[in-house]
Amino acid sequence: MDAAAPLLLFDSGVGGLSVLDEVRKALPQAPVIYAADNGGLPYGTKSEAEIAARVCGLLGRMSERFRPRLICIACNTASTIALAMVRDVLAVPIVGTVPAIKPAAAMTRSGTIGLLGTAATIRQGYVDRLQAEFAEGKTLLRFAASELVGAAEEKLRGEPVDPAVIARAVAGLRDQPGGAAIDTVVLACTHFPLLRDELAAAFGTGVGFVDGASGIARRIVHLTQGQPFERTVPDRALFTRANDDLAALAPALHRYGLERMEVL
Ligand code: DGL
Repeated sequence: MDAAAPLLLFDSGVGGLSVLDEVRKALPQAPVIYAADNGGLPYGTKSEAEIAARVCGLLGRMSERFRPRLICIACNTASTIALAMVRDVLAVPIVGTVPAIKPAAAMTRSGTIGLLGTAATIRQGYVDRLQAEFAEGKTLLRFAASELVGAAEEKLRGEPVDPAVIARAVAGLRDQPGGAAIDTVVLACTHFPLLRDELAAAFGTGVGFVDGASGIARRIVHLTQGQPFERTVPDRALFTRANDDLAALAPALHRYGLERMEVL
């Protein structure tokens, strides 16, 4: 194993940074390439076919070009739709992001769990299967909070978060029959932990949040056990489109240790 071979973390935008945060804590020495398909953002309102084609195509090209030791699809939407396909076509180990229904089912005391994801994620059979397997006997209320994706993107560009957007996401769960009993919320989109403080304030005390990031970091540690790591070039963030607003992301990317930005 080449010690400089990177971990490649992939998302449609900045959401995967919430995963990178946990990966950094677990493997601070690991070289990282963070890839954002901002040209395809948002994934959550696209069709399954469109998402699968973009994700398979991009990961195929990047895997050839950057030779990562492991790819992490740090995006629930892309993972719940395309994880099996990507695994079929690429030889590199792939870690996906699965809505954290299992830990939520262990956490809830009221037996009512809320799940915030994108529209594409919450309609997946993958989520139905997780519910059947891990949350039998519990109530799982889902809401497509696609607006939160844009809010997280803006926050990381230093813009204020609109409280009305947060309030609509909270109401989307609370206003469903039985929603008042929610005590645990699954953040089933990697963008949403970036808004955890705002969501926690809006839900109020007594509601806990769970996401998949620490589980993903543990899985990556396990799969790379015994491998050497050496950062020979600064870690970088890659984008698929040269938007004007990318420069505004530089300070946030630096906070996550991504020192350079490039457009693919
Ligand atoms: N971050 C992605 C996820 O985890 C979705 C964002 C988007 O809609 O592109 O689902």
